[in-house]
Amino acid sequence: MSFKHLQIDAPKPWPHNAWYQAAWIHELNDTPIARMFLDEPVVLFRGKAGEAYALEDRCCHRATPLHLGEVVDGGLQCGYHGLVFDGAGKCVEIPGQDTIPPQAQVRSYPVVEQQEIVWIWMGDPALADDRLIIDFPYLDDHENHPHGHGLLEIDCNHMLLVDNLMDLTHIPYIHKKTIGGGDQKGQVNATMDVTKKDTGVHYIRWMENIVPPPTYRKAADWGDNVMVDRWQEFEYVAPASVLQWTGALECGRGAKQNRFQEGGFSARVWHTATPRTETSCFYFWAATNSFLPKDKAATEKLHSEVAKTFDEDIAFLEQQQACLSANPDRASVDIKHDVARKPARATLERMIRAEAEALATAAE
Ligand code: FES
Ligand SMILES: [Fe+2]
Repeated sequence: MSFKHLQIDAPKPWPHNAWYQAAWIHELNDTPIARMFLDEPVVLFRGKAGEAYALEDRCCHRATPLHLGEVVDGGLQCGYHGLVFDGAGKCVEIPGQDTIPPQAQVRSYPVVEQQEIVWIWMGDPALADDRLIIDFPYLDDHENHPHGHGLLEIDCNHMLLVDNLMDLTHIPYIHKKTIGGGDQKGQVNATMDVTKKDTGVHYIRWMENIVPPPTYRKAADWGDNVMVDRWQEFEYVAPASVLQWTGALECGRGAKQNRFQEGGFSARVWHTATPRTETSCFYFWAATNSFLPKDKAATEKLHSEVAKTFDEDIAFLEQQQACLSANPDRASVDIKHDVARKPARATLERMIRAEAEALATAAE
């Protein structure tokens, strides 16, 4: 199918030619799920043989959302008059009619399942290259990195979530009760090493000799007088994902020289914010218990603590979006702590610009 729906005169704040997380693999079954990505309504489902599919959520007959239908042999059956569409979006059955017009089809989107993530490609299917999918192997390793899965729908532009993860000086303010309590000054004055990359930006923050925050203290079972060296390593990979390794070891254990030590606190965190509309997104996250992997209760406790932390973020992000929407043209001021946020934004803008230029060239 051609890629006519992309309008070069109507720029959107996201690239289309990229992989986005559509779901966690366990969410998909034979009950269709309706989800909007990049302003386009999509229906996700598993066929009878278990394979994952994504189709435009609009029947080509009378425009009924296909998620109201059901999975049958051969594909997804529209719930209104029974047309059946296969995983490629082609109509394969019209009840009571022998011939199927060739234009009876809906758009289908490339889908790949990898490391517990269902990825979707919203752009030109000819450009959908599996090798561009981000590798985060911890999600496949429940023995050494057990974890739960989170999904939140947030009323904010997806990049506000990325901004939030690129500037962690918010932590001692928003997250006093979870990951930000303890030593406020030590956290704001963390060292920050930022490296720009073609795909985004990487940084590592170190907070040495600090009081551990409540979440870490609970997880590692540290007493009142324990002091730690704490790190936060983050990488934004455009357009929508952030890979994190966060942890702490008791002072004197040489965390800075070797973070791969037993004990202490350690978590690998997956974040991705798939745009739903310009002012809403799906936030998929998972935080691994990489410090006591055999302790199921520790995994559950970590998951609920991290969930609490993200609820604290959301309250701010949605209010921030409301202010931005009310006055979109007001300028903002950057400060020193925007040092990773700015190249993250620049990477996304480069990607959007490159896509627009490629489309303009193709249209000439
Ligand atoms: S609207 Fe889908 S079959 Fe008629
Ligand atoms: Fe936060």
